[in-house]
Amino acid sequence: MQNMLVLGIETSCDETGLALYDSDRGLLGHRLYSQVEIHAEFGGVVPELASRDHLRRAVPLLTELLASTGCNRRELDAVAYTRGPGLVGALLVGAAFGRSLAWALGVPAIGVHHMEAHLLAPMLEAQSPELPFVALLVSGGHTQLVEVRRIGDYVLLGESLDDAAGEAFDKTAKLLDLGYPGGPALEAYAASGDPQRFQFPRPMTNRGGLDFSFSGLKTHAATTLRKNHNDESTRRAVARAFLDAVVDTLGIKCRRALEATGVKTLIAAGGVSANQALRKRLHEVAANVGARVYCPRSEFCTDNGAMIAYAGAVRLQAGERSGLGFGVKPRWSLEEL
Ligand code: KG4
Ligand code: ZN
Repeated sequence: MQNMLVLGIETSCDETGLALYDSDRGLLGHRLYSQVEIHAEFGGVVPELASRDHLRRAVPLLTELLASTGCNRRELDAVAYTRGPGLVGALLVGAAFGRSLAWALGVPAIGVHHMEAHLLAPMLEAQSPELPFVALLVSGGHTQLVEVRRIGDYVLLGESLDDAAGEAFDKTAKLLDLGYPGGPALEAYAASGDPQRFQFPRPMTNRGGLDFSFSGLKTHAATTLRKNHNDESTRRAVARAFLDAVVDTLGIKCRRALEATGVKTLIAAGGVSANQALRKRLHEVAANVGARVYCPRSEFCTDNGAMIAYAGAVRLQAGERSGLGFGVKPRWSLEEL
C-alpha cells in the first residue's frame, strides 16, 4: 500500500489536538492544547468558548507540530479531522480548518468518527491488539461495549441508558467540590478514602444484558453526603465508594461481553480508561477468562490528535474521501459506519 503522511485534527470538545501519522514510520509527533482553565470557572464546557479557542489555537499548533517534526506542510498527503460526534461549533472549526487546508494543498481530506478513533487508539502502541476484539469505550459522552470484528464492522453490545461513566465522574466530583474535569481529581481524592465505610450499588449487574446506568450512583453519592457529617473523611470515603462501584460495574460487564462473544482480546479507550483502578481491574477480569487487555498510553485515552490521524490514515488507505461539501455530525452512531 502507498505510504501516506496524514495530519490529524481533533476539536470535538475542549481539547485542540493535532498529530502527524506516517503509515510507514508511525506517529511522528503530536500537540495538544487543553482548554481546562477556560471552562473550569464555569464547572463544565461552555460550547461557544470552546469553538472560539479552537479557532485561536489551530494554526499556531500546526506551526509548532511541523517545526517539531521537521516536516513541511507541502509533504502532507492527506488531512483527517473529527467529523463527529461532539459539540457542533467545535467540530465545525476543525472541519473547516482541515478541509480548507487539504483543498489549498490539493490533497484528500477525511472526516473521522471520534469514537472509532478512540477505539483504534490502542493500535498506536508498540504492543497493539489483533482483531477481533471487544472494546470498552468510556468517555465523557459515551459508555459502550462494542464487538469489533473488522475495522468498520462494529456491533454495539451495550451502552449507557443515561449518564456516561465520565459524566458520572464529573458530576460526582462537582458534588465533592473537586472542580472540572472531575475524573482525574476524583481518582486522586478517592485514593485515601476508606473503602469499607460505604457500599454503593453496582447498577444493572443483577440482571442480564450489557447496558449500563450511572446516574443513580451520582444520586447515591449526594444522598450519602446529606445523611452523614460532611467532613473530609466522609467525602473521601464517598469518592472511594463511587470509584469502586464504577470500576466493579465496568469490570463485570466486560467479563460478560468477553464470555458472550468468545473473543479473547479486550481493549479499553476513552478518557475514563486513563483511570488506574479501572485498568488494573480490567487486567484481572481478562486474566480470569484467558483474555488479554490493551489500552492506549494515558495521554491517548483522553482526546488527542494522534488517534484522529491514525483512524484517518486507515480510512484513507481503504480509499475513502470526504468531498468539499463537508458537514459535521454532532450525533453519529458507530453502527452507521
Ligand atoms: O475521551 P475524553 O477525553 O473526551 C470525550 O470524548 O468525552 O473523556 C473525558 C472524560 C471526562 O468525563 C473525564 O472526567 C474522564 O474522561 N476522565 C477520567 C479520568 N481521566 C479522564 N475519569 C476517571 N479517571 C480518570 N483518570
Ligand atoms: Zn473523546
